[in-house]
Amino acid sequence: ERLYADDIEAILRLKQERDAVILAHNYQTPEIFHCVSDIRGDSLALAREAQNLDAKVIVLAGVHFMAETAKLMNPEKTVLIPDSRAGCSLAESITAENVRALKAAYPGVPVVTYVNSSVAVKAETDICCTSGNAKRVVESLGVPRVIMIPDEFLAKNIQNETGIEMLTWPGHCEVHERFTPQEIRQYRRMHPGVTVLAHPECPPEVVAEADYSGSTAGMMDFVAQKQPKKVLLVTECSMSDNLAAQHPETQFVRPCNLCPHMKRITLSAIRRSLETMEEEVTIPEDMFARARRAVERMLAV
Ligand code: 13P
Ligand code: SF4
Repeated sequence: ERLYADDIEAILRLKQERDAVILAHNYQTPEIFHCVSDIRGDSLALAREAQNLDAKVIVLAGVHFMAETAKLMNPEKTVLIPDSRAGCSLAESITAENVRALKAAYPGVPVVTYVNSSVAVKAETDICCTSGNAKRVVESLGVPRVIMIPDEFLAKNIQNETGIEMLTWPGHCEVHERFTPQEIRQYRRMHPGVTVLAHPECPPEVVAEADYSGSTAGMMDFVAQKQPKKVLLVTECSMSDNLAAQHPETQFVRPCNLCPHMKRITLSAIRRSLETMEEEVTIPEDMFARARRAVERMLAV
């Protein structure tokens, strides 16, 4: 059996040897999140931070689209994903061809694409968004109607918040679509006074049951600022694990769902990746400029 300590020691040494930084999404397990990562955050923070890195090598402890975004912002650096099978049900749900068909059906309507998408899909769109800035991005366009893809629930949740009409796509996050309003009500009965925070990838009926809805970083900030006694994070399991380590005074109720893609990234996969310099993320030349522009426009909002 491998010891965490062996892998952690090796990773810390390899980071120096390779001149590498590890960017970790908030859904990474605590030993990755707290012990080896250099930069932690939600999808927006990781994209933002990727703009100003000095290191030669970036290891993305997260899913494939996040590594692609890091590469878009750093074409001259080596970007590694420790397991290239770490996909995302949202990114898988739509192709560039699908987006071209939507644009043809609704000419002139701007296309806002959730970063949980492939580079090919980003290249077809006007501007990207994350769960952390979706409202701001959509409102910045100043139009009554947008095409917001591929997350149907995020689009409907933002439509409810902004009143802007969303033409969307039936993509769902396989982790957040599983939560139900009945389940939330049951937890409220079992834990009177519990504060419920839901990710906006949840169905609108679930978000309606929550006290707050926001990105993974939004939920983390909420806990840090409001310090609720008891909290229920309607999201991926590692969020509670990572936050519990920082907030021993808060009790975390854990009706979480696991993301199998995020969980493909392990300490041993990160170590192997730094040892072998695999898998390297590449972006097809013909898509690069258009996809990068959609991300840059988002970061400028
Ligand atoms: P954020 O961290 O941007 O809220 O995204 C959640 C998610 O599911 C990413 O895969
Ligand atoms: Fe994709 Fe959902 Fe996993 Fe995030 S949690 S990577 S949206 S499947």
